[in-house]
Amino acid sequence: MFNILVTGGAGYVGSHTCLKLLEEGFKVIVLDNLANSSIEALNRVQILANRSLIFIHGDIRDSSCLDRIFKTHQIDAVIHFAGLKAVGESQQIPLEYFDNNISGSLNLFNAMQRASVYNLVFSSSATVYGELHKSPLNETMCTGTTTNNYGYTKLIVEQLLEKLSQSDPRWSIALLRYFNPVGAHPSGLIGENPRGIPNNLMPYVTQVAIGAREKLSIFGQDYETIDGTGVRDYIHVMDLANAHLCALQNRINRSGCRAWNIGTGRGASVLQVIKAFKDINGVDVKYEFAPRRDGDIAICYADNQRAVSELGWIPQYGLEEMLRDSWNWQKQNPNGFNKG
Ligand code: NAD
Ligand code: UFG
Repeated sequence: MFNILVTGGAGYVGSHTCLKLLEEGFKVIVLDNLANSSIEALNRVQILANRSLIFIHGDIRDSSCLDRIFKTHQIDAVIHFAGLKAVGESQQIPLEYFDNNISGSLNLFNAMQRASVYNLVFSSSATVYGELHKSPLNETMCTGTTTNNYGYTKLIVEQLLEKLSQSDPRWSIALLRYFNPVGAHPSGLIGENPRGIPNNLMPYVTQVAIGAREKLSIFGQDYETIDGTGVRDYIHVMDLANAHLCALQNRINRSGCRAWNIGTGRGASVLQVIKAFKDINGVDVKYEFAPRRDGDIAICYADNQRAVSELGWIPQYGLEEMLRDSWNWQKQNPNGFNKG
């Protein structure tokens, strides 16, 4: 049996990936400091999978904790989700972002090397493409001009891993560049649990729909897009989770560092999302137009052919399922993982 260390496994993408890993028979060891997640997510993952995982409450910046984990469990590969991800916050507290996302990652890679574990899947982001290119974005396009500190941390870690693998062929590294993860497990038991005011479109939409927030502000109505609002490539979190398994299965022990876009290859505008949400779920989402948000681009969607052909990864869910499952999760868990 393959033993996988999942850093940040209690979080949104991590919890769905842990479920998939358990369902496929992997042994799962989660390291998470619960800075942005709840242990309840992992309780529910274990109920859904009818199997247990090992949870370690700790921090990727803690070397002795990492060494203990690698010593106790025969880890074969690491899926590295742990980090901070709020774009706006990263402008206010940059050092926290550099420390968690860059120093924390380096600390993890050092511990992996001490334990002779060289298989890694890293959560990267389409943000590394910056504003330079026209969609569809493909992996041969150069990276290097991110617009915020969060994006910068992803870019730096990608570049470190690239250099590391060039210098040391023992490393086998998959960089998965996520587009816009949305949706939830179809059971509605696990999903995205943002703290405070959501930054991202989908949790904001579902919170307006359930009455927790008055209305959505649509950031910009004069982009050069089909209806003036921003276009993104939304990807169902179950498809995203599956991409990690494909990366593990197809890349494990292959020398080198390679990037894959994980998106559907199709874009939807904010207004299209709101309309589809109403058509599918029968619920109106009140909105108003607001000025453009700093750092936003008009259109961002993936060319996903590399992931399809090299990883054998094919997205199964369309926008309809994404909106259905996002709403299902919100309805069943109006307070996220918090009770009451
Ligand atoms: P999330 O915040 O739900 O999950 C991240 C997890 O890491 C949380 O459980 C948090 O408690 C944990 N964590 C944070 N710092 C830690 C530390 N120092 N030590 C141990 N655990 C720590 O976020 P997510 O949406 O599941 O994203 C997972 C990864 O994917 C992140 O690296 C994120 O940057 C990346 N990503 C996310 C998106 C997105 O829109 N959700 C898009 C592109 C990339
Ligand atoms: N939007 C609104 N109102 C909101 C929130 C978002 O109109 O309240 C719009 C945005 O302007 C954008 C679209 O909805 O046009 C999607 O916005 P999100 O914040 O959901 O997603 P982004 O594309 O801005 O950012 C996401 C991730 C980042 C990642 C980036 C690039 O949140 O982590 O994709 O991959 F860096």
